[in-house]
Amino acid sequence: THGAEVLVASNRGPVSYEVLPDGSLNARRGGGGLVSGLSAIGPDAGAVWVCAALSEADREAVRRTARAGRLPAEVTGGQQVRMLDIDAGVFSDAYNGISNSVLWFVHHMLYQTPLEPVFDAEFRRQWASYVTYNRAFAEALAEEAAEGAAVVVQDYHLTLVPGMLRELRPDVRIGHFSHTPWAPVEYFRMLPDDIAEQVLRGMLGADRLGFLTRRWADAFTACCEELVGGLGTTRCGVHALGADGAFLRERAQSFDVKERMLALREEIGTAPDGGARRTIVRVDRTELSKNIVRGLLAYRQLLADRPEWRERVVHVAFAYPSRQDLAVYREYTAEVQRLAQEINAEYGTPAWRPVVLHVKDDFARSLAAYRIADVALVNPIRDGMNLVAKEIPVVSDSGCALVLSREAGAYAELKDDALVVNPYDVIGTARALHEALSMAGAERAERTKRLAAAATALPPARWFVEQLEELQALSR
Ligand code: G6P
Repeated sequence: THGAEVLVASNRGPVSYEVLPDGSLNARRGGGGLVSGLSAIGPDAGAVWVCAALSEADREAVRRTARAGRLPAEVTGGQQVRMLDIDAGVFSDAYNGISNSVLWFVHHMLYQTPLEPVFDAEFRRQWASYVTYNRAFAEALAEEAAEGAAVVVQDYHLTLVPGMLRELRPDVRIGHFSHTPWAPVEYFRMLPDDIAEQVLRGMLGADRLGFLTRRWADAFTACCEELVGGLGTTRCGVHALGADGAFLRERAQSFDVKERMLALREEIGTAPDGGARRTIVRVDRTELSKNIVRGLLAYRQLLADRPEWRERVVHVAFAYPSRQDLAVYREYTAEVQRLAQEINAEYGTPAWRPVVLHVKDDFARSLAAYRIADVALVNPIRDGMNLVAKEIPVVSDSGCALVLSREAGAYAELKDDALVVNPYDVIGTARALHEALSMAGAERAERTKRLAAAATALPPARWFVEQLEELQALSR
């Protein structure tokens, strides 16, 4: 037989393109937890990775460079990547409309419910595009898969693929993995009944479903029991994606990271007594669920309640642009910037900028901030896992106290050595920041060691292989 034995499908692939001023195309690594996790697969696994063209530059790259649908191996590091050139309008409806404005909002419980959501004719039109987009993936996978192959479908963009692929290729083993939380049934039921049912039945087309924590797996199971009479023959497992310790530790030692550390120390400056200033570090996509605004409010509260920290601490916040086609994300980004400026105007002095905010994505600078962080602030209102909470303890130079939301998936594994907060409670978060800043160096170092061990318990490569083996062990 021909075709691949292992296939991965996700909306975002390992590379995306941008058009440079001279008209040439430049490939860049994708961001977010899903791509970080999957990039560990590497070319040796022999897997074919099917993803969508996300922009005009991506579509252009497919047209210019793809052979038999595959991107050139030089830009993918040898990984077999088939990028789907889906109609721009269909893609936008599926990605911006249904995936990011509906399914993401449902699972992260982001709606302002007195006014949203409104499931109207426009929603139905976008849903039809979501179906078309899912079908494009299912057809490409059906075409690429060898007899009895294992196919691992990723995330909320592709909930219908398992069911569709099952019809096209009854012989293949299908897995689906959710990188997000799953909504409680009362919230999930906001979706129109027929749509809720299509999502669940689409996913139940898989042999195995994977979630990041027991909490999300249980919520999914509850939805199935209430809305479609249970899981049927589909199995449900938990695979708590961890950080890639070996990769991060090595990457964090490279020259560009050291350079960025010097620049960052320069920006942070020194305390009036000449000592180093403490740092509270956060790194996120500028994402509604990450709770960056309440994080800034908590920091402002800390400065108000604890004047002893003024001039002695800096909040280093990296908030990288995300999903900027959506107005709510643009507004949120603007609010983050406005609030940071306000705090700097209120408390700053000629020698001290209380908030250092950067919005230009720079992985080396993120690692530099991880290394020098005294305190890490990870306070999402809801998060599938949050890999930043796992990455910081791994690369920290001299120990870092972790302030962690109980609503992050990572809480399940890190709660014993983190300072746990209710993400809505700004006063409580301010208190946790004070406690974290005051923690003795020895205790911080001890906790960081244990956090790093927990964070790397299931590195991405093993996370993937574990799912694959469970899938391949199933008989069909
Ligand atoms: C989350 C999702 C991923 C997504 C990532 C980045 O981690 O679970 O599926 O790739 O966010 O978001 P984006 O919309 O830029 O792909």
